[in-house]
Amino acid sequence: MTIRLAILASGRGSNLQAILDAIAAGTLDARVVGVFSDRPDAQALQRVPEALRWSRTPKSFANRAAFDAALADAVAASAPDWVVCVGYMRILGAAFVQRFHGRVLNIHPSLLPKYKGLHTHQRALEAGDAWHGASVHFVVPELDAGAVIAQARIAVEPTDDADALAARVLTVEHPLLLHVLGLATAGRLAESAGHALVDGQRLYTPLPLPLNPT
Ligand code: GAR
Repeated sequence: MTIRLAILASGRGSNLQAILDAIAAGTLDARVVGVFSDRPDAQALQRVPEALRWSRTPKSFANRAAFDAALADAVAASAPDWVVCVGYMRILGAAFVQRFHGRVLNIHPSLLPKYKGLHTHQRALEAGDAWHGASVHFVVPELDAGAVIAQARIAVEPTDDADALAARVLTVEHPLLLHVLGLATAGRLAESAGHALVDGQRLYTPLPLPLNPT
């Protein structure tokens, strides 16, 4: 079944482009029904036709809840099966998460539960971590705290600075996200009582990517 994806993005949109490319290549049975942003200048918006773009500046709303409500109404109007945050840099309020309960995903550039929030690459370097990576998880109101579905790991190199590490993590983010969306298109992914389910089975540890490391 072709699933309908609402995409939330604040920036460059390389993860969105990976989704669009996979759809065009016929490897992801999905349709992007809207791209929603808190940054009218987000490059991500330019990657889809104008009719699919929605952006508002949060400052033009009375408060955070009012912005979230407008965003939620716009997302709901696109009738998505899944809401996917790809570089969306605002915390989604509880009302938003509740409205799309169990159908909101986020990609985060760390091996959660390590390094929730910002500056993940710098923090991994400062901690002297040997491994770093990215996680795809269900969104809950608490920042980056929802059930993790899958993770991709890379080795930290002695020469890495935060930018180099971010660039290498990004190369594993795209296949990681597409793998999870593939589970969603196949109807294999769900959330229940705060846990990620694949094929109806609770995941006790995140799925590793690549699935068959050498
Ligand atoms: C990605 O690295 C994503 O993991 C990160 O922003 C980048 C967006 O890149 N997300 C977060 O930090 C969310 N807290 P993109 O705009 O090229 O997809």
